[in-house]
Amino acid sequence: MARHLITSALPYINGIKHLGNMVGSMLPADVYSRYLRQRGHEVLYICATDEHGTPAELAAKEAGQSVAAFCAEQHDKQKAIYEGFGLRFDYFGRSSSRENVELTQRFARKLHENGFIEERAIRQVYSIADERFLPDRYIVGTCPHCGYDKARGDQCENCTRVLDPTDLIEARSAISGSGELEVRETKHLFLLQSKLQHEVERWIDESSAEWPTLASSIARKWLTEGLQDRAITRDLDWGVPVPADVWPELAADGKVFYVWFDAPIEYIGATKEWSDQAPDERDYTSWWYEADDVRYTEFMAKDNVPFHSVMFPATQIGTREPWKKVDFLKAFNWLNYYGGKFSTSQRRGIFTDAALELLPADYWRYFLIANAPESDDTSFTWELFSSSVNKDLADTLGNFVNRVLSFSRKRFGDDVPAGAEAGAAEQKLGEEIAGLLAEYEGHMEALQFRKAAASLRALWSAGNSYLEEKAPWLEIKTDKDAAALTLRTAMNLIHLYSVVSEPFIPASAQVMRGAFSLENDTAQWVSPEEAKALASVPAGTPFTVPPVLFAKISEDDLESYRERFGGDDEA
Ligand code: MF3
Ligand code: ZN
Repeated sequence: MARHLITSALPYINGIKHLGNMVGSMLPADVYSRYLRQRGHEVLYICATDEHGTPAELAAKEAGQSVAAFCAEQHDKQKAIYEGFGLRFDYFGRSSSRENVELTQRFARKLHENGFIEERAIRQVYSIADERFLPDRYIVGTCPHCGYDKARGDQCENCTRVLDPTDLIEARSAISGSGELEVRETKHLFLLQSKLQHEVERWIDESSAEWPTLASSIARKWLTEGLQDRAITRDLDWGVPVPADVWPELAADGKVFYVWFDAPIEYIGATKEWSDQAPDERDYTSWWYEADDVRYTEFMAKDNVPFHSVMFPATQIGTREPWKKVDFLKAFNWLNYYGGKFSTSQRRGIFTDAALELLPADYWRYFLIANAPESDDTSFTWELFSSSVNKDLADTLGNFVNRVLSFSRKRFGDDVPAGAEAGAAEQKLGEEIAGLLAEYEGHMEALQFRKAAASLRALWSAGNSYLEEKAPWLEIKTDKDAAALTLRTAMNLIHLYSVVSEPFIPASAQVMRGAFSLENDTAQWVSPEEAKALASVPAGTPFTVPPVLFAKISEDDLESYRERFGGDDEA
């Protein structure tokens, strides 16, 4: 059994995230972690809120709160929502933690010792109206590469290119909107990525072979353009301070590190927060430092790939210390809302808090993963969502579970019926199930979530076909023992479904498993070979009939959702 370190891109603290954020990072990471745990691997799933930088400062300002108070409150809010979605982090930290401050400063010191950090005087945009420098998101304008007119000072959302504020055309302040800007000179720290180009290139050559094309192609594109030296400090009030022992002048000037410098370090920082809570049992270094036995998988949306495939590894390599680098980088495209972007400012699309108010987490989890934007951008539509819920969850899975259990109870009482021995139909079913399960495992191992969802669906369908073929409601009229065999077999399928569906729909899986009073029952994975026998729930096992697992979404529901959230008419 391997040790698996898993991280999902850290959600910005600046507000509740939408479903598009979750499907490209935290949710698939949770599905994968759950799967690996069920298979008996040691898993550490780490995430945190990304609390520094201009997004945090701007959002706090808008909320009329101090940045510290805003971040504390928003962290708790996001954490509660993720719990509601069944995301089982081992630890959900904060990038503003003491641990991350210390680690970030340590990284900077090491990089400096090794000659990869240089102090440079640069010309920066200064807003006369706001009486301050305008780093990153404090400045907006037109992207010089693609012409998008709402590009931010640090990155163009449209073409994903990383920018410098001075690159923007028709730049204006994001605080006051004032275009009265001038360029002033100020000192900043630069990470000399150009000196690390060859090492990073070699590392990518060695590591990226099995990454999905989306991830490796973005990394390659980045390398081809050449690694640029980049400013890693900012003029902000909130952030990791530049250590005064190394850079007294900059520290006195109140410079802090750029959010993209300290955020990935928080993967390590949050692991240290976790181990600092129980230092006798946990050791973050065993996961991160000389951790050759660990397999590290990262989850993120495509705009995050440059930072994780090139810049963070460059930072790690430049320390000349044996930090664990990513083994597998799983990247996602965008989930759109009716073909357009989810938009916080225009309140367009579905946010994670609203989603949970509407329907249980499993509905969303299943839909999102089954339609994950893996090979292309995909669109959320209420029509697609409701047909997925109604067909797959309610008709195929939920109906099977309820029909089998309630019919058996009505005819045979509260225990799994004995009846006849398994025959040719059960053997055929067992083989089919074993084949589909092997397929499902293969897709999970390859982190192909849409394909995995299709296999899971096929497993559910196989039960329905078996039931239709055997028709126990007819069998019972002529051969009670035969009907008992069919129902017992179907109940074994329900138990198997509870195990293999757990990564996708953990709450419902638990209800299904809980229907049977089995001793020492766990969600431990079942191999295709074991599954073939369909014999984990023996005759005589007491069971109960759970309430309907999934309620169907009606036309009226659909209408009201469209009205509340806006549909295609607003695209
Ligand atoms: N907050 C960033 C985003 O949402 C992701 C940060 S990931 C980390 O795009 F690497 F910085 F941690
Ligand atoms: Zn652009």
